Order: sequence, then C-alpha cells, then structure tokens
Amino acid sequence: MSSPEQSRPQQATTSAAGRQIERAPGWWKSAVVYQIYPRSFADSNGDGVGDIPGITARVDHLADLGVDVVWLSPVYASPQDDNGYDISDYEDIDPTFGSLADLDALIEALHARGIKLVMDLVVNHTSDEHAWFAESRDPASAKRDWYWWRPARKGFTAGTEGAEPTNWASFFSGSAWQFDEQSGEYYLHLFSRKQPDLNWENPEVRQAVYAMMNRWVERGVDGFRMDVINLISKQPELRDAPAESGRAFVFAADEFANGPRLEEFLQEMNAAVGLDARQLLTVGEMPGSTIELARRVTDPANGELNMVFTFEHVGLDTQPGGSKWDIAELSLPRLKQNLAAWQEGLADVGWNSLYWDNHDQPRAVSRFGDDSPRHRVNSAKTLATVQHAHRGTPYVYQGEELGMTNTQFVDISAYRDIESVNYYAEATSLGLAPEQVLGSLAVRSRDNARTPVQWDDSSQAGFTQGIPWLPVNPNYVVVNAAAAVADPGSTFHHLRRLIELRHTLPVLVEGRFQLLLPDHEQIWALTRTLGDQVLVVVANCSSRPAVVPAGTVPDVRGAQLLLSTHEGGTTAELAPWESRVHLIG
Ligand code: NOJ
Repeated sequence: MSSPEQSRPQQATTSAAGRQIERAPGWWKSAVVYQIYPRSFADSNGDGVGDIPGITARVDHLADLGVDVVWLSPVYASPQDDNGYDISDYEDIDPTFGSLADLDALIEALHARGIKLVMDLVVNHTSDEHAWFAESRDPASAKRDWYWWRPARKGFTAGTEGAEPTNWASFFSGSAWQFDEQSGEYYLHLFSRKQPDLNWENPEVRQAVYAMMNRWVERGVDGFRMDVINLISKQPELRDAPAESGRAFVFAADEFANGPRLEEFLQEMNAAVGLDARQLLTVGEMPGSTIELARRVTDPANGELNMVFTFEHVGLDTQPGGSKWDIAELSLPRLKQNLAAWQEGLADVGWNSLYWDNHDQPRAVSRFGDDSPRHRVNSAKTLATVQHAHRGTPYVYQGEELGMTNTQFVDISAYRDIESVNYYAEATSLGLAPEQVLGSLAVRSRDNARTPVQWDDSSQAGFTQGIPWLPVNPNYVVVNAAAAVADPGSTFHHLRRLIELRHTLPVLVEGRFQLLLPDHEQIWALTRTLGDQVLVVVANCSSRPAVVPAGTVPDVRGAQLLLSTHEGGTTAELAPWESRVHLIG
C-alpha cells in the first residue's frame, strides 16, 4: 500500500492527456447523470461481483440511453466492509473491480462516446486499513492527529460501558466510538468501525486529499460525487448531544454535520483542485442540509459545489422523529410541495440535483410508484417524467431505466448490507419482533437497490457466469434490458426521449418552475417557462383514474404533445399513472 504523497507507477496504456474530454462552462446543467454501483452492474470474470471490464463492455447501453455522465461508486482498494465506501488506498483500484489500466480503458470508452466520468470521493473517512490510519494508531506518530482520537470519558475506565468520549450513535448502529487497545484511546467512526473519520481540522489531511484529487483529474476524470461531504466539518469540541430516554447513543447530527468550517473547506478544495476553473462536475452528498445551506454551497459566486444531494424528499415516508426504519405512508402533496420548495429556494441562485433513488435508497418504482405487473411500466415512466421535468440535473440509478423493483428477501441471512445486518441485530436485541424488523428491511434496506442489473432472461439475468454476490431479483425474466430495448413502449425508451428533450429544449434546462395543484392527492402538475415557451406537465401519480379540475392547468389545445405514457387520451382525464408533456409556443 502506498500513500498519495509518493509518486505511483503509471499502468496506463495511453497518455492521460489523450483521455481528456472537452468541458464547456456550465455543461452539467443540461446533462443527465447515470450512477453505476460497480459491484452489481456487470461481471466480466465470473466471480459473481461486477467489475470495471464489465462496465466497459456495456458502455453502448449507456450511449443508447443518451446519458452524458457516469458517476461511478467507489472502485478503489478497499476491504469492502461497506462495499467500497471504506477505502484503503485512494490511488489504486480494488482487484475485485480490476486495475488502473482497466479504469483508463473505461475512461477512454466513455469519452469516445462523449460520456464523462465522475468518481466517488469518500474523504470524510478512510478504511481502518488505510496506511494513514495504521500510522495514526501509534500515539507518537506524526499522523496521530489525522483522525479523531480521544481518551475515555472522565471518571470512566477506557473500554468499559459508558466510557465512550461522547454519546454519539453511528449511522450503522451502536456507538460512533471504537476503543483501540493498542493506544488506549478511542477513535471516531460515524459509519462502521472500519471507517474512521478523518480530522479535516488538520491542514495536512486537507492537502493530502487535494493532491489525490488533482491526480485523478490529471488521469482524465470529469468530476466528483462527494460522499457525506457536509460531515467533514464537525463542532470541533466533540461534545455530548442532548440525551434521549431509553437510548445509550443518540443521532448527533447537530454536532457532527454542517460544522462551522464546511464552506471554508469546500472553497479551499475548489481552489486547490481547480474544480470550477477546470469545469468539473461537483455534487456533494449532504444529509440534513437545508435549502439555505444548499443555496450558499451551490451559489457559483461562493466557489464551492455545483449541486448537492439533499434528503428531505426521501424522509417524507418515515414517522416524524423516527429513523429510516420507521415507515409511514407517503403523501403526494407533501412530496411535490417539498420538491417545489427546493425549486423555489434555488431558482435564482444555485442548482438542484434530482433523484428518486440510488444505491442507498429503495427502488423508485417500488417506493413512489406501483410495482405491480399492471402499473410498473407506466408508473416508472411517469416518475421519470416528473423527475426530469424539474429544474436541475437528473440522476438515473442503474436499472431505473428498466423499471427494476425492490427485491423480496424473507430471511435476514439473505441480506449483505452492513447497515441492514447491524440494524437487525440491534433492533432485535432491544426487543423488536424479528418479523417487524424484517418488514422494515423489506421496504427500506439498501440491498433492494443493490441486486444485480438485469440484462436479459438468461441464467442470472446475464449479470454473471458465476454465482452473484447478491441474488438476482426473480422478476428478471420479464424485467430486463434486452426486453426493454426491444420494446419501443418501454421505460428505457421513455427515459431516452426525456434525455433527448433535455438536450434539445432550453426550457427544460433553464425554464422557471411552477407547481400547480399543490394539494391534489393524485395529480402532479407543473409548468416550466422560458421566454414565449411554456412546458406543461400533467401526471397522474396514482393507480386510479384522475380528473384534472377544469381551468387549473394551461390550455394545451393546439400545443405540441412531446411525450406521453398512453396513446390518445386528453389532459382532462388521466388513466392510472398516465402522464403528458406539452409544449406551448
Ligand atoms: C454515503 C454512501 O452513499 C453510503 O453508501 C455509505 O455507506 C456512506 N456514505 C458511508 O460512506
């Protein structure tokens, strides 16, 4: 394992300069991003785990869909405790996924098709197997302060119950602190024990990260998706959060997220890596961010990020004050009003990202649509229409273009995700009935999004010649890419058309957004306006027919019908999950 400070041997077959692609100012505003979770995309060598050559072999699927960018979830060297979000070497590729030469070949294959590549940047934490952390374990080392080491709570013996330095809970259950026998102190890990948090207060940490990012840009990548980037600045005192009765550890977001130096660090990073100067795409994952914060962070005048992933809309179907496992009914008015608030908040300054799902969320069609055989295709199409009709950069998660659904695991032994496995152990040990916990997992587990991409109806859905690391969803015989590409009425072709419209219609990129019928329980209606042009989108987001109240949406008689889910019909009465996009002017 080597550190980024040392120069690394080049394994590339062609020069890095040859892998660069042009990036025009603001290019990411009219772009559509496709997320690849490499473990589950395509396996080229039969070991059951997706890999980089597998992606390279499928780039024409992405080119046919018409996407502009691939965001690649982590492929770096990693013990895979959190499927690659625990990185042991930022400058090498994990052998599970291939080699640096394979990545270079992927960049070339994408760039040759005009598709850019955005890498995941996971720098709130490293793996505990990273050389930096190995060194930091020695209290006398120069890297001790690169992580958050703290002694036991005053009056407690280190390693005993209650001795953790603060009462913070980890995102993955239990305490956010791990006792290290070797040095007699605890280290902070907001995620798993194997993901120690880096101390961004230390300027050497920041410089090492920026140097590493620069090397990736020089290698030919076009931007970064920044993992939980708003956690890099914490309240530096590291103090207890207000206690909650019945809980040993509490979710202490006010202490560890959106800290006082967040924007300073982002500005420093932007300047040091030339993020804006080099027209790189930057999207920060920011759980718990508010509209006000996102507006500042994405204000181009501040030189921070292009856009952020916010979480409010994926928290609306949970119980107030509960965790993601406490499931509640989704209210359509709340969902559309929430998105509209973000549209308004970032209308003049800043930019939105638009997503329904990703590798951490359940499948969109199962969560916001209706994944029954009768409505799956139309609800997936209509959700895509609504998403892509908002102002911002849309993100498509692998398989979303096929209308892939949640999986159906019935036993805890089927789950692989560390968050799900730890939650099951903790919740059942606290007395929750296993059936109840399994019920939450079935709806919310991250493994729902991580089952292999369904390429065709052959064995293992064409994902692997071996045994897949996570079982293929049995519905692959019907839901698969070969069938979707062959069917002009599929979700794939609907999405392809939406992407084409974004590339050709400035009103879809820049147009002013307005939500209509905000309280309607079934209909999601909106307009986008630019100059004389008005885009009118009317969607029935329910499995029942819906009537559009007279006079509530602009008259579209004589307007051009750009896209619809159903043949014929009118805008006044909509079939279940019917949606229509008209252009006036
Ligand atoms: C957010 C990532 O999307 C998720 O998959 C990961 O577990 C955590 N950050 C920790 O890196």
